[in-house]
Amino acid sequence: MNEFDSERIEFILKQMGYKRENNPGISDLIIINTCAVREKAKNKLYGHLGRYKEYKIKNSSMLICVGGCTAQNLKEQILDDFPFVDIVFGTHNISSLPLIIEKRLKDNKKICSISEEGFDYDLKKFKKTYDFKSYIPISIGCNNFCSYCIVPFVRGKEISIKPELILENIKRLVQTGVAEVTLVGQNVNSYGKDLENIVTFSEILADISEIRGLKRIRFMTSHPKDLSSDLIDIIASRDNIMPHIHLPLQSGSDRILKLMNRHYTRDSFLKLTEQIRKNIDNCAITTDIIVGFPGEEEKDFYDTLDMVQRIRFDRAFTFIYSKREGTKAAEFDDRMSLKMKKYFFKELVDVQNKISFERNQCKIGNRYEVLVEGKGPKGTFEGRLEDSTLVNFEYNENDIIGKFINLKITDAKSFYLKGIKI
Ligand code: 5AD
Ligand code: SF4
Repeated sequence: MNEFDSERIEFILKQMGYKRENNPGISDLIIINTCAVREKAKNKLYGHLGRYKEYKIKNSSMLICVGGCTAQNLKEQILDDFPFVDIVFGTHNISSLPLIIEKRLKDNKKICSISEEGFDYDLKKFKKTYDFKSYIPISIGCNNFCSYCIVPFVRGKEISIKPELILENIKRLVQTGVAEVTLVGQNVNSYGKDLENIVTFSEILADISEIRGLKRIRFMTSHPKDLSSDLIDIIASRDNIMPHIHLPLQSGSDRILKLMNRHYTRDSFLKLTEQIRKNIDNCAITTDIIVGFPGEEEKDFYDTLDMVQRIRFDRAFTFIYSKREGTKAAEFDDRMSLKMKKYFFKELVDVQNKISFERNQCKIGNRYEVLVEGKGPKGTFEGRLEDSTLVNFEYNENDIIGKFINLKITDAKSFYLKGIKI
């Protein structure tokens, strides 16, 4: 969602006449679009701002703006801590950026523009970074309040975008050459419950998959508690809905899952992954896992590791728990030492990397259709299989980005495959 917001910001600024410049030292305007999921984002922001001060001293007419969830969280504190910052804006204020920037240039007064809630997405008006693929938000905010998570506090309550608007927007993008869309929401599986005419996620997905010329549909993120059999059936039955489900486990301990307020158990999660694998051919399942949640003990960690070994996820994003003020878990006793958390974290990463490696090795010798996404290292290209695995390859033509090509897999690592043209 944060990446999508960055695309919107770039689009809006381009309309104002700005051009992207990757060297901050010579820019007229610097925008930092922040995340707030983990505390590290705040430290990174403060690090960047520390460096940007120098540019501002050299060029006082440069504008420095901080947007996104951390901006929303810290509000005026950023302006107090870094007096050279010109504008602080929240996730619901992106479409007002032209007005905010103009005001700042005219009045010479710092601006803090944060709305706590609201729906400020004009889907017709956004630029996609790539010509051939695009994010499409289908809902904004989250009602789940997992006890560790700050998202519901900064993004607000869940609001689903009307199906007509989503469909119209995707049709428009497909006409301009988009082959792949990724539907994004904090929990796509609860899509539509708040609409006047209730629509389920599998229903909107079915409608989207009817759009002619749309080759690949992806979506994230799925909350395990809301993933329906209907959804599994629709993925299994439509060729253009990609066989990849990002299904955050977070923990493999029932005790911790309860404390996390996740509303599923080890057992129900296991059954769900079995159902997915049984019904959807070659479906990749990826996950997120948190290590060191307050109250987690050795036994809980080994329950998580046990789940990882049983399910054999294709990939996992692993995080050490980060305390977020204002969340329920911030009040819990956190006794495990950081050293222990790091030890468990490494053990988990090592086990998962080996599993990812083995799963990727099984693909050697197979042939796949690949959507070419860009240049890889050393003049190679990068693309993705239907199940979203990254593949790196050499090719004798140059004009292939955004196109579908067929490759044979020749080698596999934990995080990517290597392929050759067939
Ligand atoms: N600490 C660590 N990881 C977190 N995540 C969300 N909140 C926290 C936190 N406080 C992780 C979850 C989520 C992913 C996007 O970030 O695993 O699925
Ligand atoms: Fe956070 Fe849970 Fe909502 Fe995901 S579902 S955004 S982890 S509160």
